[in-house]
This record gives sequence, structure tokens and C-alpha cells, in this order.
Amino acid sequence: MRNISRLFVIALLAMISLSKAIAQDGDAASGETLFNNNCKACHSPKDEVVVGPGLKGIQQRRDLAWIVKWVKNPNGVIQAGDEYAVALYNKFNKAQMTAFPAFGDKEVKDILAYIEKANTAVAAAPAGATNTAQAASGGSGPSDLFTYILVALLLVMLLVLGVLLAIVSILSKAVSGDVSSSEGTSMGDKLRNGLVAFSKNSAVRSATVWFFILMVTKATIDGMYGIGVQQGYAPKQPIAFSHKLHAGQYKVDCNYCHTGVNRGKSATIPSANICMNCHGVIKKESPEIQKIYTAIEKNQPIEWVRIHNLPDLAYFNHAQHVNVGGVQCQQCHGEIQTMEVVEQRSSLTMGWCIDCHRKTDVNTKGNAYYDKLTALHAKKSKEPLKVADIGGLECSKCHY
Ligand code: HEC
Ligand code: HEC
Ligand code: HEC
Ligand code: HEC
Ligand code: HEC
Ligand code: HEC
Repeated sequence: MRNISRLFVIALLAMISLSKAIAQDGDAASGETLFNNNCKACHSPKDEVVVGPGLKGIQQRRDLAWIVKWVKNPNGVIQAGDEYAVALYNKFNKAQMTAFPAFGDKEVKDILAYIEKANTAVAAAPAGATNTAQAASGGSGPSDLFTYILVALLLVMLLVLGVLLAIVSILSKAVSGDVSSSEGTSMGDKLRNGLVAFSKNSAVRSATVWFFILMVTKATIDGMYGIGVQQGYAPKQPIAFSHKLHAGQYKVDCNYCHTGVNRGKSATIPSANICMNCHGVIKKESPEIQKIYTAIEKNQPIEWVRIHNLPDLAYFNHAQHVNVGGVQCQQCHGEIQTMEVVEQRSSLTMGWCIDCHRKTDVNTKGNAYYDKLTALHAKKSKEPLKVADIGGLECSKCHY
């Protein structure tokens, strides 16, 4: 028994060192970045098919020289009549892989090291796990809360109605019955007289009236604050494009379509050409995909309905938050990768921006721009540097 377990441990150690040895000539960390930025839109490092085949075990299928040649210029390899490449190309319905002419041995080795690591790292949680956990915790959106409040309000109103009806019935009894004759000493009579006196009291009556006036005013004011706030807005789009399918199931990176997020103010909505990178071959026959073709033929942009929209007086910049600040899309937009139809999850009010600037630490790591500020701040306070401390609450930063 002991021998078997010892053998098992040795085998395990051997496997680990072997996988390390294979990975040694490439840098898995830089490979991961390269892979995520360039390949992930179409490939999984495991064996499931995305747009192209899963890349698990690619080194067993092809040698390094072939892979490098292929990545640099897939079309060239196919044109040259390479049997393997042609067969693969046909198997994937002649989907065109993007060429990476700038890639050489180094880049490809790094990517291969990453693929190797992704398949040997037993402890690594499945990619979907965090997503589903977040989705579960953020599942009950604002609309749920709203219904709870509505139900609670309804219950309170029913209660009030009940009390009012009781008062009315007591009053009418008191009026119809002979009040003066009830000089009896029974407990019930005393109570009734007391109630009659209570309801006739003008202070009580005016308090009730004021209570209702206040309730109505508050509801009106709340309603007015809600004007222009589009939380929960989820319009129907001209093409039934699903983020759940593209960003969730097929794990296409947000940057692949929203190309502005790291560079500019606007995230940008992808043009039809970006769709065509894939739909030039995928599901051509679908009527929804045909709409993309029509848009391109007629040279008309697809008229997506805009969902998130700040008033002109406010300035918001994606690159500042995503690239510099390291804020995740989901913190502001919710779990887009689970949405069949995009819905605005945050209120986008000034209070919402300010609240986050008060609470959030500035991402100062590896950013020399913040070195002096961090040092200055550390002298004044033990708290970490917040966005509020770098001017995140100044009117002019957000208003033109
Ligand atoms: C636009 C989608 C797309 C992108 C981006 C892409 N590929 Fe591909 N890749 C494919 C498709 C599709 C195939 C299957 C062959 C074909 O249809 O041309 C493929 C095939 C391959 C193969 C051969 C797989 C096998 O099982 O033999 C390798 C290796 C490969 N790609 C590596 C990469 C690497 C590395 C990157 C990133 C630097 C990358 N690909 C980026 C679509 C893509
Ligand atoms: C394959 C391309 C593609 C990918 C990948 C993609 N999107 Fe989109 N996105 C679109 C298109 C097209 C629209 C406009 C239609 C719509 O609202 O569904 C859109 C709309 C949006 C909107 C609403 C825009 C508005 O009008 O206010 C947000 C927010 C958004 N995407 C965030 C994301 C996030 C976050 C991810 C990554 C998890 C992502 N998208 C991945 C194509 C994409
Ligand atoms: C990286 C590749 C990729 C890109 C880019 C892409 N798609 Fe897709 N799309 C897919 C895949 C894969 C499917 C699933 C096909 C299937 O179900 O067989 C799909 C399915 C769809 C469907 C459902 C079709 C149906 O009838 O089932 C629609 C609609 C669609 N995409 C619209 C778009 C639009 C619009 C864009 C551009 C904003 C876009 N796609 C960009 C890969 C992509
Ligand atoms: C700090 C909060 C925040 C983060 C993080 C964020 N967004 Fe936004 N996003 C907004 C706001 C606010 C708007 C409305 C901007 C406007 O109307 O000027 C918006 C608008 C958009 C739009 C539609 C209009 C446009 O700008 O083109 C898209 C698409 C979008 N975001 C995608 C993304 C993606 C993808 C990410 C992650 C890479 C992301 N956003 C990260 C707050 C955020
Ligand atoms: C999820 C948290 C979050 C939300 C919500 C948010 N921000 Fe920010 N914001 C940040 C972070 C983090 C930074 C710091 C980025 C950096 O390191 O420069 C920042 C920085 C800024 C800056 C630059 C401040 C400066 O002094 O350089 C502006 C302007 C800004 N945000 C505007 C907005 C507006 C407008 C909104 C609402 C529509 C908003 N932000 C919502 C997190 C947030
Ligand atoms: C972090 C960004 C941010 C800062 C800092 C900020 N605002 Fe705003 N403000 C916004 C946004 C976003 C809106 C639009 C959303 C809304 O109407 O709630 C807005 C709206 C407003 C409005 C218009 C309200 C309306 O209903 O039209 C006024 C007035 C205003 N801000 C004044 C100020 C003043 C004064 C300051 C400085 C004390 C300030 N803001 C600081 C982001 C900011």
C-alpha cells in the first residue's frame, strides 16, 4: 500500500517537473497576455471549440516551425497546399484566421507555454466560476427591490384602510345610538366613548390629513428625481445580438468589439465590419445575420438604440476608468456577459459617480505618475489614496 502511494507521488512530481520543463523555453505570463489580446476571441486554450479549434495539445499535433508559419500567415499555408491546413480550413467552414505577421518564435513559444500551463494547472478554477458567482450575488436587480417596496406599500395602505373603516363604523354606531343614554359603566361603553372623543379631537384629525399630504408629496418628489434616470432601460435592438452568446458562451473579449475602452472617452459600438470578421462565414443563412449583410451592401450603419447616455453637461472617460483606473466593466455595467439584451444596471447619476470616487482606492501600482502624490498623501493620512483625494470630487473634473 505504502509503495503504491509513494509511486503515485513520484509520478505526480515527475509530471509536474516535466510540464515545467516543456514550459521552460516560453514565458507563460507574457504568453497569457498575448493570448488574451490576440487569440482568445477565437480560441480556447483547452479543448473546446470557439471560432477556431481548442489549442490543447497543439504541440503534439504540429511542430513549432509549422505553428509559427501558420500564425504569421495562415492563408499562405493554406494557399501552399499544406494538407493538414487545408483539411482544418475546410473542417471549420473556411473560417479565416487573422494573420499575425509581427509574431515570431518568441511570441509563439510564450503562447504555447501558456497553453501548456492552462492545461496542467489543476488548481486553477474554471473560467466560468467567478462569473456565475458574481451573477448569483448580483442576481436580484433594482427591479426586484422595487417590487418589494411596492408590495410593502400596498400592505401598509390596506392596514390604514382597515383602521379607517373601523373608525367609521364606530362613529356611525355612536351617532345612530343614543350617546347620552349610555351612562352605563361597562368596559365596552367606556372604550367606545373614548374612541368617539378621540376621533372628534381636531388635533388628531388634522394630523391624519397632514400625514396623507406628506405621503403624496414625497411620492411626487421621488418620481421627479427619477426623471432622466434610465436605470433598467433595455430597449429592443434592430438585430437580436446577444452578449450572453458572444461575451458569455464564446468568451469574446469586450475590447474586441468595444475598441475605444482603453484609448478614448467613448467605448464605441462595433461597426458591421467587426461582425463580418466572424459572420463572413458563421451562420450566414440566419435572417438576423442577413441584416448585417444588408447594412453593408446599402452602406448604411446598423441603427443600434443607445442605452447609456449622460447629459451633455457631464464628462465621462472610459480609458481613464478602464485603462488607468483598472475598473472592471461589470462594476458599472453589471454582468453584461449574462445579458441576452443589454440593460442599464447603474443609475449613472452624479451621486453614483461621487459615491464610487469616495470609496475607491486609486490604482497607483506601476504608475510613476502617482508616486509623488502617494508619498505626499502618506504624510497626511494613514488611509489609502482615494479617487476623492486626487480631485475626483471637483466640479470641473466632471463638468465642462
Ligand atoms: C478571427 C479568429 C481567429 C483568431 C483571432 C485566431 N485564430 Fe487561430 N484559428 C482560427 C480558425 C478558424 C482556425 C481553423 C483553421 C481555419 O479555418 O483557418 C484556427 C487554427 C489555428 C491553429 C491550428 C489548430 C489545430 O488544431 O491544428 C493554431 C495553432 C492557431 N489557430 C493559433 C492561433 C494563435 C496563436 C492565435 C493568436 C495569436 C490565433 N490562432 C488567433 C481562428 C482564429
Ligand atoms: C461581438 C461584439 C461584442 C462583444 C464581444 C461585446 N459587445 Fe457590447 N455591444 C455590442 C453591440 C453590437 C452593442 C449594441 C447593441 C446592444 O446594445 O446589444 C453593444 C452594446 C453594449 C453596451 C450598451 C451600449 C449602450 O448603448 O449604452 C454595453 C454597456 C456593452 N455593450 C458592454 C459590453 C461588455 C462589458 C462586454 C464584455 C463583457 C461586451 N460589451 C462585449 C457588441 C459587443
Ligand atoms: C469572434 C467572432 C464573432 C464576432 C466578432 C461576432 N459574432 Fe455573432 N456569433 C458568433 C458565433 C460563434 C455565433 C454562434 C453561431 C451558432 O450558433 O452556430 C454567433 C451568433 C450570432 C447571432 C445569432 C444568429 C442566429 O440566428 O442564431 C447573431 C444575431 C449575431 N451573432 C450577431 C452578431 C453581430 C451583430 C456582430 C457584430 C456586432 C457579431 N455577431 C460579431 C461569433 C461572432
Ligand atoms: C466607471 C464606470 C464605467 C466603467 C468601468 C465602464 N463603463 Fe461603459 N459607460 C459608463 C458610462 C457612465 C457610460 C455613458 C457615457 C456617456 O453617455 O457619455 C458608458 C457607456 C458605455 C457604452 C455606450 C456608449 C459609448 O461610450 O460608446 C459602451 C458600449 C460601454 N460603456 C462599454 C463598456 C465596456 C466594454 C467597459 C469595460 C471595458 C466599460 N464600458 C466600462 C461607465 C462605465
Ligand atoms: C466604480 C467606481 C467609479 C465610478 C462609478 C465612477 N468612477 Fe470616475 N474614477 C474612478 C477611479 C478608480 C478613478 C481614478 C482613475 C485614475 O487612476 O486616474 C476615477 C477618475 C475619474 C476622473 C478623473 C479624476 C481626476 O482627478 O483625475 C473623472 C473626471 C471621473 N472619474 C468621472 C466620473 C464620472 C462623470 C462618473 C459617473 C458618470 C464616474 N467617474 C463614475 C472610479 C469610478
Ligand atoms: C464625479 C463626477 C462629478 C462631479 C465631481 C460633480 N458632478 Fe455634477 N453631475 C455629474 C453627472 C454625471 C451629472 C448628470 C447626472 C445627473 O443628472 O444626475 C451631474 C449633474 C449635475 C447638475 C445638473 C443636475 C440636473 O438635474 O440637470 C448640476 C447642477 C451639477 N451636476 C453640479 C455640480 C457641482 C456644483 C459640482 C461640484 C460641487 C459637481 N456637480 C460635481 C457628475 C459630477
